[in-house]
Amino acid sequence: MDMDIAVEPAEARVNVGEAESLKLVCRSIRQESRNAKTYVFGTEGDVRVLFRAGQFLNITFGVNGQEAVRSYSISSSASHGARLAITVKRIPNGTVSNWLFDNLRVGDRVRAEGPLGAFTDEEIEGPLVFLSAGSGVTPVAAMMRTYVDLCDDRDVVFLHFSRSPEDTIFAADFSAWARALPRARIIVVATNPSFGSGWVGPTGRISQGLVSALIPDIAGRTVFACGPEGFMQTAREIAERMGVPADRFFQESFVTFVTKVAEDAHEGPSEKAYEVRFAKSGSTTTCSETKSILKAAQAINVKIQTSCGKGICGTCRVKLTSGTVTMTHGGGIKQREIDQGYILACCSKPTSDLVVDR
Ligand SMILES: Cc1cc2nc3c(=O)[nH]c(=O)nc-3n(C[C@H](O)[C@H](O)[C@H](O)COP(=O)(O)OP(=O)(O)OC[C@H]3O[C@@H](n4cnc5c(N)ncnc54)[C@H](O)[C@@H]3O)c2cc1C
Ligand code: FES
Repeated sequence: MDMDIAVEPAEARVNVGEAESLKLVCRSIRQESRNAKTYVFGTEGDVRVLFRAGQFLNITFGVNGQEAVRSYSISSSASHGARLAITVKRIPNGTVSNWLFDNLRVGDRVRAEGPLGAFTDEEIEGPLVFLSAGSGVTPVAAMMRTYVDLCDDRDVVFLHFSRSPEDTIFAADFSAWARALPRARIIVVATNPSFGSGWVGPTGRISQGLVSALIPDIAGRTVFACGPEGFMQTAREIAERMGVPADRFFQESFVTFVTKVAEDAHEGPSEKAYEVRFAKSGSTTTCSETKSILKAAQAINVKIQTSCGKGICGTCRVKLTSGTVTMTHGGGIKQREIDQGYILACCSKPTSDLVVDR
């Protein structure tokens, strides 16, 4: 099964490749597995969005009368900029993923910011490894689809972990990609296949034994990992132990609310507190050196949109008019933006009194 991408109109305009506000209309919906669907969006005015495979969009959905922003990796090929697909896995009790599953219809419109993110193979030479688990397959799918479209027969080993055959997103695409890219090796590992599922492939969770058996030359490859936090931590440790240098290991985390709650619980008692003034809303509060600007804003109802809560997605970007912070981000902001005075509120803590342009 391949993406049902429409041919781009000849008059399509091309944007400049920077993150921008997009108006999207849903053109088609497809069931990918028992709990994942792909939503293909067209852009208003058929504007072609220049993005790099592996990047994501922050999409605003109207869920039960309230706006909710979530990050979704683009799962379609970067060579089809006027059609952008996202593939969403339904999360138990998840607000947006369930709403999307049950409510989004062809013809519905959404707003998006993007493209965002640095989880891309741009300027990466040499052999690659893709390690993905569950819905973490989506940015990898965009890369594989782009290679297929560009006839870029990369030396890539793509190792994907899925609970069972029924849960495997893009299962039908894997063999088509392998046929189109003779140098690519695609291996699916089922972590918990049910009896009678007919699964005859490898089983088990990610482990050093499995990785060294399947990718013995991993030390000479650049590794991209995407999946739940625990999966990625294990992937990173294995790669490190097997000799992959830190600067050749890239990861994208699909963090959830649970992770954010755990982090917030770790915030220690205040040592020093600083004054934080939100200039546009005219509100002022104090913020301890161990608390994020985002938390300080939320405490006094100053609205800053968030998604990942971990400095990855760039949703909470605000401009600092004065003052200094420590910012521990995960790639959600570019050096150029930092130089212009922008910070990510979710992962910035004050080291002086601040004025924030919000
Ligand atoms: C860069 C990036 C790219 C991403 N790409 C994709 C993608 O391609 N596909 C994809 O499916 N996802 C992707 N995600 C994840 C996505 O953004 C959402 O986090 C995901 O869809 C869940 O959103 P939700 O609204 O359904 O869940 P949320 O409502 O945000 O809840 C998430 C989790 O928290 C739990 N929870 C919610 N409320 C509470 C509460 N009050 N107390 C305790 N627990 C609670 C839920 O049970 C659930 O397990 C990506 C995330 C990032 C950061
Ligand atoms: S919410 Fe994602 S970077 Fe802050």
